[in-house]
Amino acid sequence: MKRLLMVFAVAALVFSASAKSIKSPDGNLVMKFELTKGGRPTYSLSYKGKQVVKPSALGFEFVDNAYENYGTFYHTPERPSYSMREGFSLKGMETSSFDETWEPVWGEQRTIRNHYNELLVKLCRDERGFLLNIRFRLYNDGLGLRYEFPRQSSKKLAYFVIKEEYTEFAMTGDHMAYWIPGCYDTQEYEYTVSRMSEIRNRMVEASENVGTASKKVFSPTGVQTALQLKSDDGLYINIHEAALVNYSCMHLELNPKTKVFTSHLTPDALGYKGWLQAPCHSPWRTIEVSDDACKLLASNLTLNLNEPCALDDTSWIKPVKYIGVWWELMLGKSRWYYTKDFNGVQLGKDDYTKVKPIPNHGANNENVRRYIDFAAKHGFDQVLVEGWNIGWEDWFGCKKEVVFDFRTPYPDFDIKALNEYARSKGVRLMMHHETSSSIRNYERRMESAYQFMNDHGYTAVKSGYVGDIQPLGEHHFGQYMVNHYLYAIKEAARHKIMVNAHEAIRPTGLCRTYPNLIGNEACRGMEYCTNADSGIKPHHAATLPFTRLKGGPVDYTPGIVNMKFADQTSIRSKSKRSVQSTICNQLALYVTLYSPLQMAADLPENYEKQPEAFQFIKDVAVDWDESRYLAAEPAEYIVAARRAKGKSEWFVGGITDDERTMPLSFDFLEKGKSYIATLYADGKGADCDKNPHAYTVTSGRVDSRTSLKIWMAHGGGFAISIREATEADAKAKKLK
Ligand code: NOJ
Ligand code: CA
Repeated sequence: MKRLLMVFAVAALVFSASAKSIKSPDGNLVMKFELTKGGRPTYSLSYKGKQVVKPSALGFEFVDNAYENYGTFYHTPERPSYSMREGFSLKGMETSSFDETWEPVWGEQRTIRNHYNELLVKLCRDERGFLLNIRFRLYNDGLGLRYEFPRQSSKKLAYFVIKEEYTEFAMTGDHMAYWIPGCYDTQEYEYTVSRMSEIRNRMVEASENVGTASKKVFSPTGVQTALQLKSDDGLYINIHEAALVNYSCMHLELNPKTKVFTSHLTPDALGYKGWLQAPCHSPWRTIEVSDDACKLLASNLTLNLNEPCALDDTSWIKPVKYIGVWWELMLGKSRWYYTKDFNGVQLGKDDYTKVKPIPNHGANNENVRRYIDFAAKHGFDQVLVEGWNIGWEDWFGCKKEVVFDFRTPYPDFDIKALNEYARSKGVRLMMHHETSSSIRNYERRMESAYQFMNDHGYTAVKSGYVGDIQPLGEHHFGQYMVNHYLYAIKEAARHKIMVNAHEAIRPTGLCRTYPNLIGNEACRGMEYCTNADSGIKPHHAATLPFTRLKGGPVDYTPGIVNMKFADQTSIRSKSKRSVQSTICNQLALYVTLYSPLQMAADLPENYEKQPEAFQFIKDVAVDWDESRYLAAEPAEYIVAARRAKGKSEWFVGGITDDERTMPLSFDFLEKGKSYIATLYADGKGADCDKNPHAYTVTSGRVDSRTSLKIWMAHGGGFAISIREATEADAKAKKLK
């Protein structure tokens, strides 16, 4: 018996020496690390005693002897690999805790708490002496883990090439998944809702209808992050990454039999997944968990795992509400290009002053002035103008290196006079750089392009990456491009320029470190509604806060108030398609889709016909002291309430896929105070397909005890603006 006890004690010692658990500060989440017998690092995660992630392996496959093999080696199809998945020994484990509160430059809250318990595991791949650390941070809302490659003992080990990362996320069941296809080049897919086991069958259908002219779906069971999952017992699980820097974007490859998702990195032109030099580290792999969908939406895990602000002076970074010469281009009412006289453009050789302009070039002086006047009249900060610069005649799909110079306006766009005119009215123009994904061209011209912006008084640029990346073979989401996007953001910061990048990598919280990254598209946005073949179904916008917005704000371009294209002059109007959204759904998006950069995307003439709805768009804030998610279910509905920065004004937005009645309690308001609320609600018979324009506007008194039941149409929603009551409101009746 004594001997048996001793064996047991030794076994326990061995076990405890290679395994360790940490808890989240509130104790709900438990993460257990274990190095298995064969030296394989694993982790598992549980929430309130329920397993969320079963024991899952961590590791890599490296290209063998990467440093010593050079020259043609990398071009040979057979590239021997070296396993970094097992054979590790444990060199040490350290635990620590952290708790701080920080203030974002702009955001959903004025302050954010960053509170976690940490475990650092130090490993050595014995065969060669390669050192690998794994850092786990456990928050109340989820887990972050990353690989760290400390300084190595020799140059041979310091340089390494990743063949694949093998981070597993072993699920406990066949969860519901809210997913878009795993793709190296675009996120502009509509979300599919299915069981994990149905992903394979739905992949072809899910991959169709993308209009960015560059896409590479890599597998019938590959999906992108942020991936939202929901278990049958009501757990919301979200897998994403944070702080993606000098590394390629992670997708997830599902093994439908084992229900294990494994990381799948975006390759470069030769098929490699990452070129690294120690000391360095991977981005964080994140798993958010909650039994409350609203809490999951309120999580700040992604931001917290990013580095603090890297800019000394942020006073020039200001949230922006803008309009633009844009929707008319999307509708086909006007054009980006100036002439049809060229078969193609050769920058520097063609003379635009000698050609015949088309009658409807959008970025002309008169039209831009009209937008500036409209912006000034209605209090918008900026006016985006696309198609202002030469080169649009053959930009799309031409696969040439020199497409735009980002400096030369078309003859009918007087850049100096228009900027002066805008500033005289308290408005700024917003720059547009469509790079057409010709990266060398853009990087070579970037300094001069940003300087040109400074010279003319621009403070923000919308950039774009339509088409296959040049150099050909690189992908939008590979390490090469990840580095490019960050380079563009850092260079812009030197010039005090805010960036809103379209078709770029989906965000991973880098806006904490570089708050001049004020917007991103990286999803199927409103522009798809103008395309007869595709469109956007109502569940999509109710999915985005659970997926795409996990990494940062979105330039979704809401605010459409004329949903029917058939009565607007356009080529696309020949189709019967309309925006599948009621007017109130569009208004609510300003609150449900968080962004410090919001567009009022529709045409000025359409807003003039809908002055009441337009009032909400004018009133709604773009920066917040407080945000509350009041009700949420992925792909079904979202209700959010936010308090404007430095004010006691609140804005509430609710959206839904199908018709439903939503109970709404105003208990987020300060107790004892009286407020006046204006409610924009779907009108009788409203429906996103049949009757999108029906809405009502009612005002009345509310306080923290008020509760309402609000009906939302199919593809509908509601929006509320709330201000403190004054003496002048003495006679105001209760809002019903
Ligand atoms: C795609 C962008 O998402 C869209 O907003 C822009 O107008 C076009 N590219 C042209 O750059
Ligand atoms: Ca786009």
